[in-house]
Amino acid sequence: MTLAERIGQLNLLAAGEGLATGAGGDSPLAKRLDEGMVGAVFGTKSRASARAMQERAVKGSRLGIGLFFAEDVIHGHRTVFPLPVALACSWNMDLVEETAAFAAAEAAAEGLHQVYSPMIDIARDPRWGRVAESPGEDPVLAGRIAAAMVRGYQGDDPAAPGRVAACLKHFVAYGATQSGRDYDNASLAWEELLGVYLPPFADGVAAGAASVMAAFNAVNKLPMHAHRELIEDWLRRGEGFGGLVVSDYTGVMELTAHGLGPREVAVIRALSAGIDMDMVGEDYLASLPGLAEAGLSAPEAGLEVSAGEVRELIDRACLRVLTFKARMGVLDDPFARLGEGTAPARAAGVALAQRAAAESAVLLRNEGVLPLAETARVALVGPFAEDCANMLGTWAVSGDAREVCSLREAVERVAGRAVPCVTGANVVAEPWLIDRLNVHGTTVALDERPAEEMIAEAVAAAGAAEVAIVALGEAKEHAGESSSVLAPALPAPQRALLAALLETGTPLVVLIFAGRPLALGPEAAQADALIYAWHGGIRGPDGVADLIYGRAAPSGRLAVTLPAHPGQVPLHHSEEPTGRPDPGRFQKFRTGWLDLPDGAAGFPFGFGLGYGKVAYGAPQARGTGPVEVEVTVRNTGKVAQTETVQLYLSDPVARITRPARWLADFRRVTLAPGESATVAFTVTREMVSYWIAPSLEEAERVSDPGEIVLHTGPNSRDTQSVSVTWRG
Ligand code: BGC
Repeated sequence: MTLAERIGQLNLLAAGEGLATGAGGDSPLAKRLDEGMVGAVFGTKSRASARAMQERAVKGSRLGIGLFFAEDVIHGHRTVFPLPVALACSWNMDLVEETAAFAAAEAAAEGLHQVYSPMIDIARDPRWGRVAESPGEDPVLAGRIAAAMVRGYQGDDPAAPGRVAACLKHFVAYGATQSGRDYDNASLAWEELLGVYLPPFADGVAAGAASVMAAFNAVNKLPMHAHRELIEDWLRRGEGFGGLVVSDYTGVMELTAHGLGPREVAVIRALSAGIDMDMVGEDYLASLPGLAEAGLSAPEAGLEVSAGEVRELIDRACLRVLTFKARMGVLDDPFARLGEGTAPARAAGVALAQRAAAESAVLLRNEGVLPLAETARVALVGPFAEDCANMLGTWAVSGDAREVCSLREAVERVAGRAVPCVTGANVVAEPWLIDRLNVHGTTVALDERPAEEMIAEAVAAAGAAEVAIVALGEAKEHAGESSSVLAPALPAPQRALLAALLETGTPLVVLIFAGRPLALGPEAAQADALIYAWHGGIRGPDGVADLIYGRAAPSGRLAVTLPAHPGQVPLHHSEEPTGRPDPGRFQKFRTGWLDLPDGAAGFPFGFGLGYGKVAYGAPQARGTGPVEVEVTVRNTGKVAQTETVQLYLSDPVARITRPARWLADFRRVTLAPGESATVAFTVTREMVSYWIAPSLEEAERVSDPGEIVLHTGPNSRDTQSVSVTWRG
């Protein structure tokens, strides 16, 4: 291959409008394909357009090297499943794997080789909009999800029919962004990076993920697109990752705005950090030919590199791209996926989407009102009562809102008759915010009527009903990329609606359709039933209707802590203790917030109710490492229940301050009424040990002898404990 051909392989372009038709197709993309200067394209949207690009690329390439095709398949492809954070709340790895496998089959049938998923950024700040795409706040749960999704996408071989290559993203600590602002930088202890943010990537790599995408943010002052120590040393050498690393969208170019230097410096920094492909910015394409001739001397950026070294870096990256193509079968036959592909049966996907929605929703309160009888006279009120578009959630680039069945349709289907429905009640109060939300289309509109009018109508409908189902939440554009908010809370107009409905005395079933954990406010705490339904995908409302009417049993458990107040962020279950815990010795010197009312509580990580009632026995432990622990659970209720039995650990004395508790393992068991089961866990060194890391290079994983406390229970708060002596 010539130098130019090698550099061309590193260029990753967006399909955009595709190949302009007419006049021979002279779009910028078409021109690049003709020159043989593209390695891969993402966002092709159909097999026909991918095929047209492939024909052009193969013709344009002297050696006939084909492109590979990628897409943002984040929570389903055509069949949109619940948001990733919602699916995480199922704690059901078989389900997670099944949804990924279905998405892979749909994607492969359209000629795609790679999906930009799973997104496995730990997210602990609900202000950050990309919580929606995340596996939640916990590294153990996220690691299981990473592995399950990789298995679902890739099976045993990502090149096999119906499979695609997974891409772990965003490497790394994108979720640790300052103040919840998107693209912002992360400053964190190396111990936290190694113990919280990196483990899901290690698990995804261990499961065989074929590719990784770098994150926009800096980690401890160094932007990830220039972080050789994390990419080349930790990921490749440390974890044995042998696949492809792609940049994020213009991530190489953005090194300049990060302050690392001009284009040439950015290119060398990224390439030597191990970013093999440059997405969209074309900085590799523009700069590498010259750099490969002359090298670069940039003392102001602390960079000195010879032409020979640049050529070695180009070869290294090119080899990785070609190895990926070989693994995906592109070098054998660039058209292998572009013939008559068979998409999986749509009906199976729709049924899976409905089951996934029911398993992802979390029942937070139920004062005996649920499940409803199908004959109950219900009224539907709230801004999402008839909504379709928002149910898809963020990053559903191939979804179609016309395929979504609204809550009203779903409820009417189960009830078998028309139900009164009052929509309106503004999703947000501010018109200027609506304009920002609607940048990419119109999913949110302000109700033309005065709020009082809509509230009066809703109150009348609720007053005349036996039960009111209240559909609240946030718009899909409200949670996602570049959608950070100051106050992750239920918007004021909706709280006003809820307050007015509470006055009617009619039992309220409140549903929250959202993309992030929202502080719901004191009104929601008075609802007779409360379900966190997320943005549940094309069958989101059907899944919730199944729960409401008892056609499906609630089994979801929160994968994120729900704050009591929007200012209580970041927040997660695995925080470290302070020297002055709340409530402590001092009245005034509290660690918590002065203005957070006593008793104001959100919902803890791992929390969720069912329609059954499960009693937990005390944990029994034996051994000194590994430790075997057993807990007996019994369904004392009248209906079957799937329970997620959770095991947390704490280490009261260590060399550094450790989290007050952390999730070590969990197991789902389904119990018939009256049935009991004994769930056994093995506590391993890996679960107990922790990192001491003055720097990445000096990081050491240690495990000390002494007391370890094991906590078992239905969530991170309501646990019973037993102590053991760990032998170290
Ligand atoms: C996002 C990535 C995504 C890429 C390509 C970026 O803005 O951060 O998650 O895969 O765009 O669409």
